[in-house]
Amino acid sequence: MPLARSLSITSLSGLEEWDEEFDLEDAVLFEIAWEVANKVGGIYTVIQTKARLTAEEWGENYFLVGPYVESNVRTQVELIEPTNPALKRAIDKMNSSGCKVYFGRWLIEGSPYVVLIDVAFTAWNLDKWKKELWDNFSIGVPWFDREANDAVLFGFLTAWLLGEYAAQCEEPPHILAHFHEWLAGLGLALCRQRQLPVATIFTTHATLLGRYLCAGSVDFYNNLADFNVDKEAGDRQIYHRYCLERTAARCAHVFTTVSQITAVEAEHLLKRKPDIITPNGLNVKKFSAMHEFQNLHAQSKNRIQEFIRGHFYGHLDFNLDKCLFLFIAGRYEFSNKGADIFLEALARLNYLLRVNHSDVTVVAFFIMPARTNNFNVETLKGQAVRKQLWDTAHTVKERFGKKLYESLLVGQLPDVSKMLDKDDFTMMKRAIFATQRQCQPPICTHNMLEDSNDPILTCIRRIGLFNSSADRVKVIFHPEFLSSTSPLLPMDYEEFVRGCHLGVFPSYYEPWGYTPAECTVMGIPSISTNLSGFGCFMEEHIADPSAYGIYILDRRYRGVDESCNQLTSYLFQFCQQSRRARIIQRNRTERLSDLLDWSITYQLVTWPWLKPSRIPTSTNLMTLRLPKVSVTLDRPLCPHLRLCRATPPPAKARRKKTMTAMTKMQRQRKTA
Ligand code: UDP
Ligand code: G6P
Ligand code: GLC
Repeated sequence: MPLARSLSITSLSGLEEWDEEFDLEDAVLFEIAWEVANKVGGIYTVIQTKARLTAEEWGENYFLVGPYVESNVRTQVELIEPTNPALKRAIDKMNSSGCKVYFGRWLIEGSPYVVLIDVAFTAWNLDKWKKELWDNFSIGVPWFDREANDAVLFGFLTAWLLGEYAAQCEEPPHILAHFHEWLAGLGLALCRQRQLPVATIFTTHATLLGRYLCAGSVDFYNNLADFNVDKEAGDRQIYHRYCLERTAARCAHVFTTVSQITAVEAEHLLKRKPDIITPNGLNVKKFSAMHEFQNLHAQSKNRIQEFIRGHFYGHLDFNLDKCLFLFIAGRYEFSNKGADIFLEALARLNYLLRVNHSDVTVVAFFIMPARTNNFNVETLKGQAVRKQLWDTAHTVKERFGKKLYESLLVGQLPDVSKMLDKDDFTMMKRAIFATQRQCQPPICTHNMLEDSNDPILTCIRRIGLFNSSADRVKVIFHPEFLSSTSPLLPMDYEEFVRGCHLGVFPSYYEPWGYTPAECTVMGIPSISTNLSGFGCFMEEHIADPSAYGIYILDRRYRGVDESCNQLTSYLFQFCQQSRRARIIQRNRTERLSDLLDWSITYQLVTWPWLKPSRIPTSTNLMTLRLPKVSVTLDRPLCPHLRLCRATPPPAKARRKKTMTAMTKMQRQRKTA
């Protein structure tokens, strides 16, 4: 057992029990994560979308803590002087002791304060801190693991910050520190070991071992209880990381995770059952006009179609109006994210569309960042050719218009045969010649560094989906997150999702899965699985998710081939829908968005101690069962959800309730 020899994790070491009547103005919340103002994956989305509500609730007393990354700071953060006097003293003290700690406002909704720590600047301390880690926790971090080295630096620096802040407070402080994921977890363990007066929460968004085991060929969910965790972590050379994660989970006053499925996993792999499940939410923005999101779909789809015109130049032998855009997106974990079965299902769909002589063409996008050295020439050329054709058409149109105008000025109808002259034809012929192409439209938009053993490309070579004319399913692999400044596909991710028809996320390992949730709030149907936190959440709360465009694939009780067949049949059915059916389906999907707003999920986070209350038993279509408690809501969220909500208490009272709950939790732990 790698845990501290000297640390008693069940005690409240260092933490005085909070008096329920203390003045709330004194309480501060630090939320600490490696993805604060630093986009890697879904944890960034959690923090970024939750910030507005948390900042509303905690006001000036809410501080996010993350790593200082210059490129991010330049684009997302306004650096300012620290606003809280004790925090200013703490930061000044650290900066005069050889650290670089910055303070600013993160320019997102809610404009929360951020404390950003330059871990590289303090790397001179690494060996000393690693020794301390070994002496106090028996965790040895190898020199070559850069990510773990960063975790050590970040952990010691955040514990330093919290300790220094506590020391600078004039009154005994009430500090709540919420740590996310193993990369931030060491700070928590150090708070406990140093007996700092800090109430700690650890939220895990996955387990390291779970992610690694699933990525291999292990029957994960049927063997959860039987893994020899130390051996498995050692075999995968992540024992030290695993120890950091497990220590954080064991040391936290409150341990939480994002879904029931990950709670079970954590119980077996981290050996602690989470105290609360905190389903992730989003910052849902409602349009005043219902059809507005449909208009946005049409606009964004036009932009994707433009890209397709360029990408497939010389091979535009399919009807773009009958073309459906499917996509998968996220961090590049080939089998965990289900890219493997998506490709297999696309191959089967291609066959089905061909034998059924369907006039539908499917373009499937894979948006997963991999190592590249920029866009490839052929892809860029495609967009250049499209632009040239557009410019040619425009020039000819101008010349045509001028002649027409001149003819009308002299009171004559134009001689149509003379409207286009030789030069015009030459120009147009040259433009058409430029669209000749010897090769097929490319699969990948970038030059891959590991082209020959890249899993997506290898699989495509095996199944033979090469964007040929006969294929009804075309594939485009964009190994970089989308950006509106891209010269190739200048759209941000949200715009892109809006323009697509279906998001496909057949994950095998997915503690939550923001991508299908984001589709839902934008009114885009999606496929997820009953092994993803999101899929299970929807299955639990919605009577018939597929009626709302939320298809949930069974990957729990079926073999891979069977799941793949189920996926193929969902895709094929989707391709057979008429435009009208798709529009209706999008309307239905969008209606579920309220359910995914933080104002709903946040209540579950903050209020697990609410008294259970009635759920009306009328004949409405659905009942929303909230995990742990049933909360009665006073207005229906949407006509199809039987929900009513108690009027949310004012922010200050809510905070008080959180605090009281914290005290309660401390008591329970003490008596335990
Ligand atoms: N994402 C993005 N740009 C892209 C593709 C994806 O910002 O081009 C974001 C997406 O909005 C989502 C996150 O990446 O919030 C992926 O989170 P998810 O929880 O689905 O998976 P994770 O990568 O954290 O495992
Ligand atoms: C939206 C627009 C319609 C458009 C439709 C296309 O609903 O408001 O004007 O016809 O999208 O839907 P499709 O599923 O074919 O992209
Ligand atoms: C992790 C998980 C993902 C989840 C995200 C936010 O990155 O892989 O499923 O959505 O955290 O909780």
